[in-house]
Amino acid sequence: MRITDTADLWWKNAVIYCLDIETFCDSDGDGVGDFSGAAQRMDYLAELGVTCVWLMPFYPSPQKDDGYDVMDFYGVDGRLGTLGDLVEFIRTAKDRGMRVIADIVVNHTSDQHPWFQQARSSKDNPYRDFYVWRSEEPPDTSKEVVFPDKENSIWNKDEKTGEWYLHRFYSHQPDLNISNPAVRDEIAKMMGFWMELGLSGFRVDAVPFFLETMGTPEGESGDPHDYLQSLRRFLSRRSGDAVLLGEVNLPYEKQLEFFGDAADELNMQFDFIAMQQLYLSLARGDARPLASTLEARPPIDPDNQWATFVRNHDELTLDKLSDSERKEVFAAFGPEERMQVFGRGLKRRVPPMMGGDLQRIKMVYSLLFSLPGTPVLFYGEEIGMGENLDIEGRLAVRTPMQWTDEDSAGFSSAPPDKLVAPLVSGACGPDKVNVAAARRDPASLLGFMGTLIRRYRECPELGWGEFQVIDQPNPAVLAHRSVWEGNSVFLLHNFAAEPATVTLKMDDDDVPAEGGLLTDLLQDSRRPISPGEDLELELEPYGFRWLRVQRPGTGRLW
Ligand code: GLC
Repeated sequence: MRITDTADLWWKNAVIYCLDIETFCDSDGDGVGDFSGAAQRMDYLAELGVTCVWLMPFYPSPQKDDGYDVMDFYGVDGRLGTLGDLVEFIRTAKDRGMRVIADIVVNHTSDQHPWFQQARSSKDNPYRDFYVWRSEEPPDTSKEVVFPDKENSIWNKDEKTGEWYLHRFYSHQPDLNISNPAVRDEIAKMMGFWMELGLSGFRVDAVPFFLETMGTPEGESGDPHDYLQSLRRFLSRRSGDAVLLGEVNLPYEKQLEFFGDAADELNMQFDFIAMQQLYLSLARGDARPLASTLEARPPIDPDNQWATFVRNHDELTLDKLSDSERKEVFAAFGPEERMQVFGRGLKRRVPPMMGGDLQRIKMVYSLLFSLPGTPVLFYGEEIGMGENLDIEGRLAVRTPMQWTDEDSAGFSSAPPDKLVAPLVSGACGPDKVNVAAARRDPASLLGFMGTLIRRYRECPELGWGEFQVIDQPNPAVLAHRSVWEGNSVFLLHNFAAEPATVTLKMDDDDVPAEGGLLTDLLQDSRRPISPGEDLELELEPYGFRWLRVQRPGTGRLW
């Protein structure tokens, strides 16, 4: 692999930071975050080490699904600023060496979108086929709905024309018909538009639903993967380094289909499977569920990448665990009903789930940055923000960013009751957890996160390397190795509340015959190491270590 490849395939070891403009920073005091406010925080993100900002939907929207219900694919929600402000935001990010990607939500539109308004006006309207209709009474689909607390069918009857339209999500989000070439054209045009304004790619919402052709006659729409390939080709023509990061919460074998046989579909996919097993391991104090999942993770093309995360903007879904495993995780991290959502997930953030134990929280983030893949942070994770359980459903974790200990958390000069979302209170509220205080405290989670990010970036082994779980007898410990271009990094994580000792056997592949150095990347120590040496390593309760074996002349920073 040459240096040119590492720069071109920037997503292989990016640090992605997801934020919602609405809740990040308000510059004009109206209680709603805006692009100008977020642009003022660009140096904060750069200092943290973020290399790519992922913007949640900022498009005009009736806000019935927090902006995932888009009514104009070419605009900016007026509360957040203008197209001009968005472009300035992207320019500012680029000046600091950061890229910007954005959510693209094309499985559906809002029912307020002019296309749907047209489509529902009559059966022969030219926009009718932009959506998926059926004329016969639909069967019972109550088991197929994504939001079981709100919907009981994926079909909704439109009274005016007496037909039913498909909606995988809420009934106010009619699904687009991607079998229709006119819809495909519109999607490409709109992606091209945002690329022209400076985006570096997209987080593609709900990919499997977007690609499904349910409700259209068999054989009429072709293979949806051909369509995804054509979208990728289109983007690559417009901009060689554009990324498609897909939301595909499916078993690994299914996910492979979305990378494409020739690595010609999505560049990246979130790893929902490892995320869920990670929580099972944390709940049990047993690294094995995560270890065996990572071992079973299928190899992918070197151009592709997994996006790892421990929290995102949605419910922390546990849908791929068995019922009894899910119960274990609920019991450990969200025993009360108000902490759970849709019967399958949690509405909590990491620090409260870990009982505020800083060592354990650090261990979770050490894992995030050292598991093979590209880490994705959700805003506020770096300072240890919590959730507000009084807020309904998934919105519990989408509270205003906590910049200071002031009344409105430094997010806005508007009073707390005028903010776009309620603040967090209690142990993780702004008076206890905020950026201003964390910046002044060398022992803060923020300081630690900065160190992790720097080490991650300095260890191309982690994003690029070959990954292996190392056999060792202690079930509470995950020991793994990432090797790239002859350099090995060893990572140890103790999932238990008791200390652990791990013996690592250094074989000849790992250690050069002469001149090898063992560097502890988080404790800043180093010493010579010889092949065949057994390393006895101590781990504190919930302890972790990052160790590099360096060959002479490789020039890695230590
Ligand atoms: C995705 C988003 C979620 C949204 C849904 C419908 O799953 O992550 O927030 O509600 O799509 O657009």
